[in-house]
Amino acid sequence: MAKGCFAASKKIDFYVVFAGIALFAAAFPAHAQTADEAWLKYLPAIGTVNDVDYHLTRPRTLGTGEIEQAGASSELTGFREYDKLARGLNKSNTYIVIGTAAEFHKTFSQVPLPSDLPPEGYWIKALTLDGKKTIVVAGADDRGVLYGVFDLIRRLSQHDAFAKIDVRSAPAMPIRWVDEWDNANGTVERGYGGPSIFFDHGHVRDDLTQVSEYARLLASVGINGCNVNNVNGAAPFLTDEWLHGLARIADAMRPWGVRLAISVDIASPQKIGGLNTFDPLDPAVKAWWAAKVNEIYELIPDFAGFTVKADSEGAPGPASYGRSPADAANVLATALAPHGGVVLYRAFVYNNHLDYNDLKADRARAAYDIFHPLDGKFLPNVIVQIKEGPIDFQAQEPVSSLFAGLHNTSQAMELQITQEYLGQQRHLVYIAPMWKWVLDFDLRADSRSTPVKEIIAGKSFDHPLGGMVGVSCVGRDWLGSPLAMANLYAFGRLAWDPNLSADEIAREWIQQTIGGNVQVLLTLERMLMQSWPAYLHYTGFLGTQTLTDITGSHYGPNIEASEHNGWGQWHRDDASGIGMDRTVATGTGFAGQYPPEIAKMYESLASTPDDLLLFFHHVPWTYKLHSGKTVIQYVYDIHYQGAQEAAQLGAEWATLKGKIDPKLFEDVRARLEYQAGHAIVWRDAIVQYFLKESGIPDMNNRAGHFPGRLEAEDARLTGYTVLDVDPWEDASRGKAVTCSEKTCSAEWTYSGPAGHFNIAVQCFDLQPGTARFTFSVNGKPAATWAADAALPSRRPNGDNSTRYTARDIILKPGDVLRVEGVSDGSDPAALDYVELEPASRANLSTAQ
Ligand code: GCU
Repeated sequence: MAKGCFAASKKIDFYVVFAGIALFAAAFPAHAQTADEAWLKYLPAIGTVNDVDYHLTRPRTLGTGEIEQAGASSELTGFREYDKLARGLNKSNTYIVIGTAAEFHKTFSQVPLPSDLPPEGYWIKALTLDGKKTIVVAGADDRGVLYGVFDLIRRLSQHDAFAKIDVRSAPAMPIRWVDEWDNANGTVERGYGGPSIFFDHGHVRDDLTQVSEYARLLASVGINGCNVNNVNGAAPFLTDEWLHGLARIADAMRPWGVRLAISVDIASPQKIGGLNTFDPLDPAVKAWWAAKVNEIYELIPDFAGFTVKADSEGAPGPASYGRSPADAANVLATALAPHGGVVLYRAFVYNNHLDYNDLKADRARAAYDIFHPLDGKFLPNVIVQIKEGPIDFQAQEPVSSLFAGLHNTSQAMELQITQEYLGQQRHLVYIAPMWKWVLDFDLRADSRSTPVKEIIAGKSFDHPLGGMVGVSCVGRDWLGSPLAMANLYAFGRLAWDPNLSADEIAREWIQQTIGGNVQVLLTLERMLMQSWPAYLHYTGFLGTQTLTDITGSHYGPNIEASEHNGWGQWHRDDASGIGMDRTVATGTGFAGQYPPEIAKMYESLASTPDDLLLFFHHVPWTYKLHSGKTVIQYVYDIHYQGAQEAAQLGAEWATLKGKIDPKLFEDVRARLEYQAGHAIVWRDAIVQYFLKESGIPDMNNRAGHFPGRLEAEDARLTGYTVLDVDPWEDASRGKAVTCSEKTCSAEWTYSGPAGHFNIAVQCFDLQPGTARFTFSVNGKPAATWAADAALPSRRPNGDNSTRYTARDIILKPGDVLRVEGVSDGSDPAALDYVELEPASRANLSTAQ
């Protein structure tokens, strides 16, 4: 049907409105973000100056501590930054004095310091000191000073008023860590920003400058710990050579108040310690851990602690000896306690060999089933680290039921800053709105208010420890995408104060990072805030999670990948309906793990919110949502809407041309254009899959109908052969063509009305090769490009299906369209279709 207005016929005239041949860059820019100062560039503030009374003089630092001097003081006095901040303010001298509360007591006892500043907290106050106008930054301790200075700078760069400044702030939770999944060889698991900043070829890097830069960024948003190695494959890091290298990393981060932590393998006593067991209750094993921890503290006196992944996804664990996670965690905790270290024991423990045919089997239950019975059995310096949802960093899940299931155990929430399931930084997804939803979710434990943010802060159940851990996976290019850095920023800000809103954090970040004017601020804020809902709308629906290849790339669409295997990310769809029944009455019982009020809400079909419906219930395709729409019609509508929203992001960005740094503009423009194309791949995959599965047509007649689309398998092919794409839904009608010779071509003859068109060529850009494509009309080349983007997979599928659009091309009946592909062996220039859209309707034309 896609052939519509086309027919294979003879060659005739054409003309193309094109200034020569358009040379298309790779769909994805070769340069990502270089490791720069991110939001610490101290750009001129946007908008009007609120306060012209201050000319800031050099700050006076009361203390001599490393953090206060190297961190706080240098941050304020660094010539470039400071001069920029002072510029534009008038000549009325204002002094800044920074120090800890104790230092103020000694030197300026007249300063009325608050008596109850919590650890790491600070006070910023404008007052008169020795007859001079002064801004005091007083920290409860060294870190407090540092965080106070960064707060002051944030306010300066946003032109806040200072005449009456009086700010008291303290972190909501003590554990504010990032986890890096860096491997010893210098790669980063689920990292999309290049190689490790810490390791290279089995060693700690010689030059750790970038580690210090990273620590500075982390400190500026209040992050106080960094676990530097992957939770997988952690055993070697406890050897002598590694510990000495890790001590250098700790030194590089220390001036910024960021403490080093590492992941450990629970089998280390056996793997690297020479013991024949790693049974946590074996006295020799306990002694081994105690000695090892002492060794670490000799080298790193402020070492923060261990993170543990055990009995999970093939990682060894205490279960091998019939011991519990509490047994394992407590052995480590006993060794760490005398030194002030903690254990972050991950609750990501589950069986990945579940029986799909067992309707009671449910991975979502695992964390609660395993850890709830152990509540109260962990030592005080153990914190159970719980992923935000019961599955695995999906685009949308309910919150983990375990948060309400541990009243006598400290907890931390683990979330992912790196966008493993959220478009891997190629897609713009600002995650703060999703995190906010989780943080604000009130679990109603004991039938009282217990929002997740208060549980993990230790407030709900009265624990001194607790916090947030963000899996960030930065590389030499930071997160590999300039706008993705908003997520790192937002993570830190929310860990400091989970009551901040996602949009105010976005504004802070934009002002400090992008600069520009009010239009830039408002446009980009809107784009960021729309990006997560848009991604949700084109990658899944109603709680099915991200419908991606869960056994491989975790990137493009692959609907069946989550079914019929032991991984338990099922959505159980068939011709009659879809969804996992997790009710107590008829399903797996997961809903019953929540406190009664929440359990009741999810148990009932009527009260389960639509956006999580299929996570909790199996329903027919014709089931009516609260909106009155059937499930299947919602599937069609929301994916068309989502793809449209993705295109809108590019259109909005286009309005900023000339208003921001041109390099940044072009970089993000190309990414958003790619994203809009990939959103169509997602849309089509999900829509055609469920159209076939349900057999129910789209009321709006879009599903399965592509007027203007010309399939490659219907073309006059030279050299190309037809291929069944796997999974089938990743190609239009399941088929593509692949080049089995050096050069191949596909040709169609146009038979529709004359007009201007944007013509999209949908092809597959495979790793590791570089195929070349030329699109021509009546033999005259209109566009040529190299398919050299770094996209997952070596087979043509939804991971690497990309589109190149030639714009404003004039066609008349009989014109011959031709795509020529030059294979380079590993990339066979595979082609899916070309699609014509009248140029007047094209919504992305402005993004060029
Ligand atoms: C996900 C992710 C893995 C990671 C694991 C974990 O499954 O894909 O790369 O190791 O989570 O959190 O341990």
